[in-house]
Amino acid sequence: MTGRPTRLAVLISGRGSNLDAILRACAAGTLPAQVVQVISNRPHAGGLELAAAAGVPTAVIDHRRFPDRSGFEQALQAQLDAVPCDLVVLAGFMRVLTADFAARHRGRLLNIHPSLLPDFPGLHTHERALAAGVAEHGASVHFVTAAVDGGPLIAQIRVPVQAGDTPDTLAARVLAAEHRLYPTVLGWYAQGRLALVGERVLLDGLWLAAPVQFAAAGERDD
Ligand code: GAR
Repeated sequence: MTGRPTRLAVLISGRGSNLDAILRACAAGTLPAQVVQVISNRPHAGGLELAAAAGVPTAVIDHRRFPDRSGFEQALQAQLDAVPCDLVVLAGFMRVLTADFAARHRGRLLNIHPSLLPDFPGLHTHERALAAGVAEHGASVHFVTAAVDGGPLIAQIRVPVQAGDTPDTLAARVLAAEHRLYPTVLGWYAQGRLALVGERVLLDGLWLAAPVQFAAAGERDD
């Protein structure tokens, strides 16, 4: 560790509630990190206002202005290069990144996904979890690799499905759980406790055989 806060670039596409949780944890000192910029691929993402209100520089790289994914990613990379960071944090960033981008940022690129991966990669996870009749749903944080929603898992938070849940009620409980999970995992990284080595995750000097499990209502329970 260098003694200075770990510098985070946060990529968003929408409302930015995970970004908000990260900013709050930084401000509270529970996450020894600093959000150095927020980049959105959508010009009207609500998270841009949250960032600005917190005094964090923002940038919009609108994917619709580029003919293809590689043009978009070149612009994204140029914006990342303009503000040095230690870790790129995907927080509700809804563009699939290429294998090249993932390789370039390997070990320094994290994502949060609203399901207990490998269950329900992709979109509409809450609807699909309810349709499948699972008893438990949740969220996962993983290192990003070329496999979409398939990179090495770091930690998960489990949320019981309740009788009468709708996609909206379930999504709200999972989202609240995400707000606990992501700052916690980012804290491990910021403290130099977490690394990707090859395909494996190292936490506190030990190889993870399975993602660290949290219960939505409680503490780490593995
Ligand atoms: C979160 O639920 C996040 O896990 C999900 O988008 C939501 C963003 O909410 N991400 C993905 O689905 C990525 N595949 P937020 O903008 O309020 O943080």
